[in-house]
Amino acid sequence: MFTRFKNFLYGISVNRLSRLGIALTTSSFILFIIMQLAMFTGILVNAYVGLIAYLLFPSLIIIGLVLIPIGLNFHKRDTGRTIKEILKERFNAVELESGVTGSKVFRTILILTIFNILFLGIASNRMLNYMDGSHFCGTACHSVMSPEWTTYQASPHARVKCVECHVGEGAGALINSKLNGTWQMISVTLDLFERPIPTPVHQLRPARETCEKCHWPDKFYGNRLKTIVSYQRDSLSTPEYTTLGMKIDSGTGTDRRGIHWHVAQENEIRYISVDDEREKMLWVEVNQPGGGYKRYTNKEYPVQPDENKNIRNFDCVDCHNRATHVYEDPQKAVNERINLGLLDRSLPYLSREALHAIIKNYPDSNAAMDGIANHLRGFYKRNYPKLAATKIAAIDSSVHILQDIYNRNIHPQMNISWGSYPSHIGHKGESGCFRCHNPRLVDDENNSIPYDCVLCHSIPAYESSEPFKFLSSADTTDRDYMMHRYLQQEFLDSYPD
Ligand code: HEC
Ligand code: HEC
Ligand code: HEC
Ligand code: HEC
Ligand code: HEC
Repeated sequence: MFTRFKNFLYGISVNRLSRLGIALTTSSFILFIIMQLAMFTGILVNAYVGLIAYLLFPSLIIIGLVLIPIGLNFHKRDTGRTIKEILKERFNAVELESGVTGSKVFRTILILTIFNILFLGIASNRMLNYMDGSHFCGTACHSVMSPEWTTYQASPHARVKCVECHVGEGAGALINSKLNGTWQMISVTLDLFERPIPTPVHQLRPARETCEKCHWPDKFYGNRLKTIVSYQRDSLSTPEYTTLGMKIDSGTGTDRRGIHWHVAQENEIRYISVDDEREKMLWVEVNQPGGGYKRYTNKEYPVQPDENKNIRNFDCVDCHNRATHVYEDPQKAVNERINLGLLDRSLPYLSREALHAIIKNYPDSNAAMDGIANHLRGFYKRNYPKLAATKIAAIDSSVHILQDIYNRNIHPQMNISWGSYPSHIGHKGESGCFRCHNPRLVDDENNSIPYDCVLCHSIPAYESSEPFKFLSSADTTDRDYMMHRYLQQEFLDSYPD
């Protein structure tokens, strides 16, 4: 068997070109197998290795395979002999007996061809699989995707593949994403991409085909109690508790019970925004039970004649734009770490100084790591020298936690700093829910989309010194109501006219 193969290789190496082809094919094949073993056993894990293993070597194998017949053809032209004559010259009579198609040479070619087709089929299938893996998407173009990869790994979707949200199912989606990916490779190589990568993502599949594969919109029930702890900037970092009863129910049609009503099967909301960021709405429409749509128009912006261009159907991602690439607010990041006991609140002014340390403008990550350490250590050395000497461990571990917060959220190589990717859940000023729920968007009868402070959540505790406890339901309703009236007025005062 082996000698037959060797004779065969010798037989077809008629000139330099075909010899090059054979050398290329066999050496790439051997290297491919070695790399496969190395990746399989975990010796090699780098995404570039995968790219080489799956793109480069199979391509070289194919190039080699093509060179062999080209070489033969040149040989035929140069010597003026027919293929039959060349074969007769290169192979002995035994190998060529019983005609061309019945011969051993022909069978060897047939077997090798079948083997090659199978092999390349499996390799390209493995390549597609590999390139769909989150590890590849997240690390192949390291500095470009590292913010998305970092935030993804810390999110509730760390086990959901990138392609499950970004590509969706079906052959069309696959081809589209490969074309897109090719363009991305070119733009990364030629440095044509924007920093930070612009959002919203226009090619994202409709949520009905992605998010709703796992989360069923009609199955959100009741209220979810959410307590937000914040620490004041005083010497004790005194905690304050705000508790919200998030009304996450979906209800149906006219039976509206909460926030996920927007995405219940029979509801449709669509809008056009002034800018591509989807921050300011021109108009918002809701489908009506009897058919047709009700439109709310923004009093501030005159409607343009060519406005019908970019109508967007409102879906999960219009609110949950940060369900996976979760960037934190600096104050909330500090609050959360104190609450988890990772930052030691017994250090004076910890909440304030921690915040100052991470929001300073640093030129790059290394400067930031030093800057954060110097800020915190310097503050305690200058103002609390005794404490700085006794609480070295607490200060050091706080420095590390703050450096982690910085590294997770700030990515100087992509121009990502605090607030580069704001979340739409909640309402800071006129963002998030208040993009639509505000007094400026009105229908024909001058009614606005409701914005009452307890429409989306009850407020059983607001910046209170004690954690919220259920007393009696009468008591909560009462407190809720008082708080609500006061805050509602404050909100309306922020809209002059
Ligand atoms: C659970 C769904 C989901 C998964 C999994 C996911 N993404 Fe995203 N991705 C999103 C959404 C939603 C957006 C923001 C869309 C918007 O605002 O228009 C986004 C945005 C992005 C952006 C644009 C920058 C930004 O932050 O807005 C990039 C780049 C990106 N994702 C890459 C990745 C990579 C790489 C992975 C895997 C490591 C991944 N995504 C996994 C849902 C997902
Ligand atoms: C492959 C399944 C899958 C897909 C697709 C998916 N998710 Fe999730 N999602 C999960 C899982 C699993 C969790 C984690 C649940 C947990 O940790 O309790 C989760 C958690 C969440 C949470 C956080 C819930 C919480 O308690 O904080 C939100 C919000 C969310 N998903 C929204 C989305 C959105 C929006 C999309 C589409 C862009 C999406 N998901 C796509 C499976 C999925
Ligand atoms: C109008 C804005 C909005 C839309 C649209 C929306 N959500 Fe939500 N969703 C919220 C808010 C607000 C919460 C509560 C967040 C909290 O408690 O911190 C929430 C909570 C969730 C949770 C956690 C639920 C739980 O039981 O704790 C999941 C999962 C989720 N949404 C998924 C989705 C999916 C999937 C879609 C699309 C089918 C969707 N959401 C559409 C605003 C929205
Ligand atoms: C794109 C615009 C838009 C955004 C953004 C938006 N909503 Fe809405 N929402 C609407 C419209 C339109 C209605 C229905 C108004 C009507 O009754 O005609 C509605 C209705 C609701 C209702 C049901 C009100 C009722 O009548 O009982 C709740 C609750 C709600 N939204 C919560 C939220 C929350 C929470 C957010 C932010 C996380 C949010 N919405 C963001 C447009 C929006
Ligand atoms: C259209 C729905 C909606 C309306 C109307 C609304 N809220 Fe909210 N509110 C939210 C959502 C969603 C969050 C975010 C909850 C989270 O952090 O997950 C939130 C968060 C908050 C928070 C916590 C902020 C923090 O520290 O994270 C407070 C306080 C609050 N709302 C008060 C109010 C007040 C006061 C009003 C009336 C002026 C109001 N809300 C009206 C949806 C709404």
